[in-house]
Amino acid sequence: MFDSRFWMPESVNALAPGIDTLFMFILWVSVISIVIVCGTMIYLAVRYRASADVARDNPPRDHLGLEVTWTLIPTIILMLIFYWGARDYVHMSVPKADAMEIRVMGQKWFWTFDYPEQGIRLQATEEMNVKNTREGRPVGLVVPVNTPVRIVGSSADVLHSIYIPSFRMKKDVIPNRYTVTGFQATQEGVYDLFCTEYCGTKHSGMITKVTVLSQSEFVSFVEEMQKNSDGPIDGATVFASSGCAGCHSVTEDAPAGGIGPALYGVFGRQERLTTGDTVLVDENYLRESIVNPIAKVVEGYGPVMPSYAGRLSEEELTALVVYLKGLGSDKRGL
Ligand code: CUA
Repeated sequence: MFDSRFWMPESVNALAPGIDTLFMFILWVSVISIVIVCGTMIYLAVRYRASADVARDNPPRDHLGLEVTWTLIPTIILMLIFYWGARDYVHMSVPKADAMEIRVMGQKWFWTFDYPEQGIRLQATEEMNVKNTREGRPVGLVVPVNTPVRIVGSSADVLHSIYIPSFRMKKDVIPNRYTVTGFQATQEGVYDLFCTEYCGTKHSGMITKVTVLSQSEFVSFVEEMQKNSDGPIDGATVFASSGCAGCHSVTEDAPAGGIGPALYGVFGRQERLTTGDTVLVDENYLRESIVNPIAKVVEGYGPVMPSYAGRLSEEELTALVVYLKGLGSDKRGL
């Protein structure tokens, strides 16, 4: 029980090397603290019980050395745990710039995995899990080994949470927002993937696998999927059919001064707002500007864009953000 993994499966995530050690550290600090605190408590209760013949006059009122000790030691231990945990959390949450992007959408009660760079979509419904298992095909989320992966999650309805115990990875996926985390699988194989946020009747059915393939197997898997799957919706189509082009230019040579800001190279730009603040154009800002355009209006433009909340589905909205992100940049994913 007290080996380095506790009851967990073996960790196969290169981005989470210290999680198990940290867990065992916290566990043993807690065990030792309990023994010291409860041991002292029991000893004193017995020693100073009512019938005991002990000196009770002039009990000590304070003890500076003791108080400094029991303040300082826990402070040092807690700061160490904070630093250790925060460092590993950031390590996982900020994946490498060249990481492969996979968009995860939670929905009652299944997962959708979009691969914007590869143009494929995998779905992990109960039927798909059963069908793929029966046909000996990769199940659930499929990733190549030794490749950093950036996971961008969102939800089409309620809170879900993607949990892959073997990767020591857990991240809530939330409606109206993108959350980011990452992993890098170190070993080929099939691992469990759960929803770990109670999301209704079939929450327990939101279970599938992560299939880690060798790099060459992954390439042929993607080629095969590209033939057979429609892939995610195309953001350019959504852009055109939603009338965005009436106000926003998307090409490099477009003249400035349209009704809305020019969108070529918009991702990663620092925009000045009418309030005087600046904002970094990231996925969440793009999304907010579509759903609630007057929230942060770029300087030099009026609050004239209508809200697209409710007019675009979660999928269309994300496709649009992916498209905008790719304008004038080689960033294809989300
Ligand atoms: Cu989705 Cu629980």
